[in-house]
Amino acid sequence: MSRAYGSRLAVDGVDLNLHSGELTFLVGPSGAGKTTLLRLINREIRPTGGEVKVDGIPAHAIKASHVAELRRRVGVVFQDYKLLPRLTAMENVAFGLQVADLRISDDEARERSLDALEAVGLGDRGNAFPNQLSGGQQQRVAIARAVVAQPPVLIADEPTGNLDQDTAWEIMDLFEDIAAWGTAVLVATHNVDIVTRLQRRVVTLVHGRLVRDQPAGQTGRMAWLASS
Ligand SMILES: Nc1ncnc2c1ncn2[C@@H]1O[C@H](COP(=O)(O)OP(=O)(O)O)[C@@H](O)[C@H]1O
Ligand SMILES: [Mg+2]
Repeated sequence: MSRAYGSRLAVDGVDLNLHSGELTFLVGPSGAGKTTLLRLINREIRPTGGEVKVDGIPAHAIKASHVAELRRRVGVVFQDYKLLPRLTAMENVAFGLQVADLRISDDEARERSLDALEAVGLGDRGNAFPNQLSGGQQQRVAIARAVVAQPPVLIADEPTGNLDQDTAWEIMDLFEDIAAWGTAVLVATHNVDIVTRLQRRVVTLVHGRLVRDQPAGQTGRMAWLASS
């Protein structure tokens, strides 16, 4: 898949398959095309060349009326959490579920949201508003919202960029758990320490090109990344 902005290719002929049950890190310097690649997977933008398939659905070819169906299959986590400030943690998660499936009753949405909050370690904070939670807790709520509908794919764009290193580790542990449940998880990150220590699959983009795809256990040292 490729994506141009004007004459510039932000993503340039990237061929990438994500696997269920696998946590993959997406790394590369600023401007390498990481965010663009994630937005292609979510069909927030369309490729200007090539194909993007999500759970068998051709994201590059579907009509606008089918975009919602595709997005239901992709949970998304952002650096800045993007919680709705006037809703409680539980309501934020339930909102995600009811947007994904309009047929779900309020009671069922509440129950499933509480389950999702429990899974991220926040079972007792469902009634808290975002501004009553720490950054790490807010990101947990955002992760619960992203996985509550059990999407086959989860993408996260610099999810620990606003968090201290201890909290970043806790959040990455959660992504590992989510992958272990059978989800394909793709995490764009600059956190070299975590990437090198976890030894998961690492995909490197430079100038929009996939320059390296290292399988789990073969990450090696990535000191060159520390400066970007
Ligand atoms: N909406 C846009 N309009 C024009 N250029 C863009 C847009 N989004 C990204 N770009 C360009 O595409 C390239 C890749 O950006 P991005 O995907 O944000 O990289 P990364 O997330 O790795 O920092 C950069 O050169 C950036 O300036
Ligand atoms: Mg980015």
